[in-house]
Amino acid sequence: MATPTRRLEGKVALITGASSGIGECTARLFAQNGAKVIIADIQDELGQTVCDSIGSGNSTYVHCDVTKEEDVKNAVDTAITTYGKLDIMFNNAAYLDPLKPRIIDTDKSDFERVLNVNVTGVFLGMKHAARVMVPARTGSIISTSSVTSILGGLGTHAYCSSKHALVGLTKNLAIELGQFGIRVNCLSPYGLATPLASHIFGLEAAGVENFFDSIANLKGVTLKADDIAQAALFLASEESKYISGQNLAIDGGFCVGNSSVNMFKTQ
Ligand SMILES: NC(=O)c1ccc[n+]([C@@H]2O[C@H](COP(=O)([O-])OP(=O)(O)OC[C@H]3O[C@@H](n4cnc5c(N)ncnc54)[C@H](O)[C@@H]3O)[C@@H](O)[C@H]2O)c1
Repeated sequence: MATPTRRLEGKVALITGASSGIGECTARLFAQNGAKVIIADIQDELGQTVCDSIGSGNSTYVHCDVTKEEDVKNAVDTAITTYGKLDIMFNNAAYLDPLKPRIIDTDKSDFERVLNVNVTGVFLGMKHAARVMVPARTGSIISTSSVTSILGGLGTHAYCSSKHALVGLTKNLAIELGQFGIRVNCLSPYGLATPLASHIFGLEAAGVENFFDSIANLKGVTLKADDIAQAALFLASEESKYISGQNLAIDGGFCVGNSSVNMFKTQ
């Protein structure tokens, strides 16, 4: 059997929210592809377990609350002191507030917490990644947005606002950092079974998948964390070397149509 290509050989990546779900899966895939990976999260025990299973020579866990600038600065500095550089910054950590459909029931504190983690946290990740990538004149910055950055009505007001904001940050930073050869993109996954989704819906993984499959555009396939990790690998690797400022939807075409006016539907 041919050895799979190691698409990130010699690269160093920092992934926030890497103790669980999409971040964990991406950390494993990046390491399999030859990258050294910094796993940054607030779930220390879980993060250390992920790190240990990847192998201590190839990954390092660092406690990092993305809302705290000193934590984010320390995580980026850990990449430099441990592995000598930072090539890939994956801003993936997020918080989802309790589902309250009416704005009048939404607490200001919940709204602010979501923006603090999902927007300020990504801003800090981008800022400190830029601090070390600009002098190196290379790098790929990726953030996890969501289909809620494209369509309304799919998440809470806070979450939808925060994921829209990431697209703006991505575009603006792609313009600032293009002159230094640094690419900035984001990913927008459709719904998938992770602890975040299970917690919000109060459902086991299978229940979450059944729900999203039932309203999906693309049938016969279920979105998995590995599908998001593969897209992150593409944006991190040289294969996407001329792609910047983009919001890549991993949604099976969900956001390009309107299921209530589908003239092609036969069943
Ligand atoms: N699961 C979905 O349906 C879905 C869909 C679209 C987008 N997303 C996005 O995917 C990303 C990953 O989420 P997931 O679904 O893998 O969920 P998850 O709960 O499995 O992972 C999120 C991780 O972020 C960490 N985290 C939370 N707050 C943090 C903070 N302040 N500092 C550092 N780490 C923090 C958590 O500890 C957790 O390990 C998020 O940005 C989420 O918004 C998820």
